[in-house]
Amino acid sequence: MDVVELMKWNRTYRRFKSEPVPHEVIVRAIDSARTANSAANAQVLRYTAVESPDMVERFQPLVKWAASLPPELGTPKPSEQPRAFVVVSQVLRDGEPTPFADVDLGIAAHALTMTAAAVGVGSCMMGAFSRASVERLVELPAGERARLVIALGYPDHASTIEDAPAGADLAYYLDDRHDYHVPKRSLGEVARFL
Ligand SMILES: Cc1cc2nc3c(=O)[nH]c(=O)nc-3n(C[C@H](O)[C@H](O)[C@H](O)COP(=O)(O)O)c2cc1C
Repeated sequence: MDVVELMKWNRTYRRFKSEPVPHEVIVRAIDSARTANSAANAQVLRYTAVESPDMVERFQPLVKWAASLPPELGTPKPSEQPRAFVVVSQVLRDGEPTPFADVDLGIAAHALTMTAAAVGVGSCMMGAFSRASVERLVELPAGERARLVIALGYPDHASTIEDAPAGADLAYYLDDRHDYHVPKRSLGEVARFL
């Protein structure tokens, strides 16, 4: 698979197989995030991997799935849950986020998920989580704030992107096999070539 095909495969997955994600895969994915581009090379992000089955089970209720779908369709059942989570946190300066930390976060999260995707591990980036509970459960050091959770596992459904006509509804949806379809604005709508 070339990198563009991999980018297209690297969708959001919300139902996973029971097969665990090997520790080495998680280490490699975090290492990609660690070495990604960073504004002023400040490297303010930190990564906490939640891998043990007991911790993963305690983590599961702290995230919220698929705001565009009813819970019975968008929330994984107990047997479909992610097999690991990575909490991406940010070191604060005087209790506040530093400039460009959001940009670093996006770059790092994408590096992590692409590295996982290269070996068939799917992910869901999650901004909707109970921050205080997550920080408590993973014992985040004082002075850090949890910014993003990344759920990981071998996908148990397909997800395909499709060009959305201008003005169309952009909400993702499931077909009768419960595979995801994700409308994307067309190249013509979002890009200008001068
Ligand atoms: C920053 C960010 C936060 C997200 N938060 C959640 C979330 O809390 N729960 C969820 O189920 N999906 C979440 N998603 C996944 C988006 O819903 C998904 O990216 C979007 O529907 C497009 O699908 P795609 O990733 O397959 O292109 C998040 C994605 C991003 C980039």
